[in-house]
Amino acid sequence: MSSEYLFAHKHILGLDHLSVPDIELILNTAESFKEISARAIKKVPVLRGKTVVTLFFEPSTRTRLSFDIAAKRMSADTFSITASTSSTTKGETLADTARNIEAMMPDILIMRHPSSGACHYLAKHIRTSVINAGDGTHEHPSQGLLDLMTVKEHKGEISGLKIAIIGDISHSRVAHSDIIGFSKMGANVFVSGPATLIPKKIEKLGATVCGTIEEAVRNADVVMPLRIQTERQNDPLIPSLREYASFFGINRQVLQAAKPGALLMHPGPINRGVELAPDVADSAQSVILDQVTNGVAIRMALMYLVLGGK
Ligand code: CP
Repeated sequence: MSSEYLFAHKHILGLDHLSVPDIELILNTAESFKEISARAIKKVPVLRGKTVVTLFFEPSTRTRLSFDIAAKRMSADTFSITASTSSTTKGETLADTARNIEAMMPDILIMRHPSSGACHYLAKHIRTSVINAGDGTHEHPSQGLLDLMTVKEHKGEISGLKIAIIGDISHSRVAHSDIIGFSKMGANVFVSGPATLIPKKIEKLGATVCGTIEEAVRNADVVMPLRIQTERQNDPLIPSLREYASFFGINRQVLQAAKPGALLMHPGPINRGVELAPDVADSAQSVILDQVTNGVAIRMALMYLVLGGK
């Protein structure tokens, strides 16, 4: 990729609209920003005078704090609204809420929303840059990018790797962004889980569906179990979490089928003892906290690039 490559996106709504050179630029920019977080004085003036608003309609520990830290490390002013503190609780529409926030001239609006497509809807209604922090079961692009960065950091390259994603693929916006992102970067993504939690058309995103967890994990370079998102299931789609853990939980024995040195990843939050055994979550193979660290660098890069990269 030429160093002259220009990032032409005002919004980050998903990995589906990013090209391979876009993703490479984001990863390279994040790599160059990462060392700022290791400095004694963790602040650069890159976004001084810019205003970043986070608007979260769903709970979050990692993503919300990570965007907030990333913006502050670049000297932006940050403001936060949550579902319970927004006037949508009084009947205001999402578009009206967004237009009112826009009238206060922020530069970036970062939103998490339970409805798939909510961030696309917002981007159509306002001129401010919108970054999707997770919309329903659709996409979670900054998580997909931090996962790519973590794998590249540990494995040197992404192309040709086998990525196994296990669990609730249907309700996971992370799975959707990861399948799109890893496939675009030349990796081979295999998914497995209860048949009720594997979407029928998931192959169209680039994933291969495996009949058994063993098939997915065998010789994998990366193993990523996902949380069962019971909050998005109207009716139970698995008999019980205990049965799920016994058939699809990642433990030491299951992980032994992966390549030696395979990475164990998880987007969080983890339900220990359900999709992931606690000793594996805390093992030397786990890069779960590296994912969180890299999230700050990725979010710094995204905010920097959507505002023109200057
Ligand atoms: N990975 C992730 O989105 O975590 P949070 O829900 O805590 O933001």
